[in-house]
Amino acid sequence: MAPHWLLALVSLLLLLQTPSISSLDARGSDATCVAHERAALLSFKASLSDPAKLLSSWHGEHCCTWGGVGCSNRTGHVLKLNLSSCSQEFGVRVGGEISPSLTTLHHLRYLDLSCSNFSGVQIPQKIGSLKSLQHLDLSRASFVGRVPPQLGNLSNLIFLSVSDNPLYSDDLAWLSHLTSLQYLDMSSVNLSTVVDWVHAINKLPSLKVLRLEDSDLRKSPATLSHYNLTALRVLDISGNSFQAGFSPSWVWHITTLTYLDLSQCDFHGSIPDEMGSMTSLEEVHIAEANLAGIIPPNLKNLCNLKIVDLHDSNTTGDIGELMERLPKCSWDKMYVLDFSDNNISGSLPNWTCATVDRSTSKTGYATSSF
Ligand SMILES: *[C@@H]1O[C@H](CO)[C@@H](O)[C@H](O)[C@H]1NC(C)=O
Ligand SMILES: *[C@@H]1O[C@H](CO)[C@@H](O)[C@H](O)[C@H]1NC(C)=O
Ligand SMILES: *[C@@H]1O[C@H](CO)[C@@H](O)[C@H](O)[C@H]1NC(C)=O
Ligand SMILES: *[C@@H]1O[C@H](CO)[C@@H](O)[C@H](O)[C@H]1NC(C)=O
Ligand SMILES: *[C@@H]1O[C@H](CO)[C@@H](O)[C@H](O)[C@H]1NC(C)=O
Ligand SMILES: *[C@@H]1O[C@H](CO)[C@@H](O)[C@H](O)[C@H]1NC(C)=O
Ligand SMILES: *[C@@H]1O[C@H](CO)[C@@H](O)[C@H](O)[C@H]1NC(C)=O
Ligand SMILES: *[C@@H]1O[C@H](CO)[C@@H](O)[C@H](O)[C@H]1NC(C)=O
Ligand SMILES: *[C@@H]1O[C@H](CO)[C@@H](O)[C@H](O)[C@H]1NC(C)=O
Repeated sequence: MAPHWLLALVSLLLLLQTPSISSLDARGSDATCVAHERAALLSFKASLSDPAKLLSSWHGEHCCTWGGVGCSNRTGHVLKLNLSSCSQEFGVRVGGEISPSLTTLHHLRYLDLSCSNFSGVQIPQKIGSLKSLQHLDLSRASFVGRVPPQLGNLSNLIFLSVSDNPLYSDDLAWLSHLTSLQYLDMSSVNLSTVVDWVHAINKLPSLKVLRLEDSDLRKSPATLSHYNLTALRVLDISGNSFQAGFSPSWVWHITTLTYLDLSQCDFHGSIPDEMGSMTSLEEVHIAEANLAGIIPPNLKNLCNLKIVDLHDSNTTGDIGELMERLPKCSWDKMYVLDFSDNNISGSLPNWTCATVDRSTSKTGYATSSF
């Protein structure tokens, strides 16, 4: 039974959350809007279902003041469309169809349809004609079908997310045209038949963040002949069922990484000594892997490490030796050391006790099963 105060609070929140235009980011400007763009917006609206009337401000002449619409205050062209429903209650999301009129907004730089409900709808191929787009967020919007390779025509894109939709792609060659891309998230898009994804990614010299979690990736080359990924900070390819023996040596050459997640990837083999040179690393997750018994190499120079998560990774060895390999220079920052569910024995060297206690009392935990 929920206590009465909780019910009261929930109803109060429901009242407060009555959807309103202001919650759709109504930063517009007074510039008169361009007539054909206004018509395009209205026809886009007409194709949508909007059970909670989130678009109730979409009427009248001044389309630049409509909720979620942003215009150039110089030319009046629509530059931004933010219909993200992520901050809305589940069930009041904008959805329906996507009118082709959307793709006539040629000046659009920013399009966010995240957390909408386009269930059963495909991402329109013509989205590739919105050539000015820099930011495209179609995540968690229930889109189905194939990720249109026409996205490869959006050569000004800096941010692209199509994550968490029941989508698939069988070829990522189109990605290599997006040479300005800094952020790419295709997590949980089914990429099970994609072979050359690493080569496509390696053509993106500006890429800073790559998230391909739970994408059913199965193949990865062991090596790359040339490393273009000189800006990459975040690499998350966790939860992919790579074919047995996955051991991507190309990963260890990306010395700019601050965040690396290779958990649940059937990672097999030892972590190579090259990891000791990845001095920017702050967070490493190689959990639920098979490190074939060997404790990780010398990480003494990784002075930015905060989180090391190697739980359930078939690591074997002496805890004293393991602690010696960890960076003492990051000890005051380190707050998670998770070596649980491994085969580690021995006793903690006496210099660690004080420091481990201190780390534990901060925010995280230090665990190990002996
Ligand atoms: C887009 O709209 C959502 C929901 O109103 C809001 O939370 C978010 O801050 C907006 N984003 C931008 C960049 O305007
Ligand atoms: C146009 O908008 C920009 C910021 O978006 C602002 O700096 C600038 O002053 C505005 N110009 C006019 C004429 O309102
Ligand atoms: C999403 O839209 C479909 C039909 O288009 C509808 O059946 C379903 O209830 C909607 N879901 C939510 C959460 O709005
Ligand atoms: C880009 O658009 C042109 C036409 O403008 C088309 O011929 C080409 O196939 C498109 N390329 C991609 C990768 O979508
Ligand atoms: C991905 O699609 C393939 C068929 O192309 C299917 O066999 C596989 O189960 C899908 N993966 C996931 C995680 O749904
Ligand atoms: C590196 O990136 C450049 C620019 O995108 C590209 O021309 C080149 O082919 C890439 N190299 C490799 C090995 O992919
Ligand atoms: C753990 O590693 C050992 C080799 O050190 C190997 O024989 C064993 O099969 C591995 N266990 C699992 C569950 O993969
Ligand atoms: C644990 O490691 C010891 C050696 O340190 C080894 O003898 C033993 O077989 C290992 N146990 C398992 C379950 O791998
Ligand atoms: C730690 O152990 C070493 C011997 O292994 C000993 O010389 C040293 O005094 C101990 N330090 C502390 C703080 O107990």
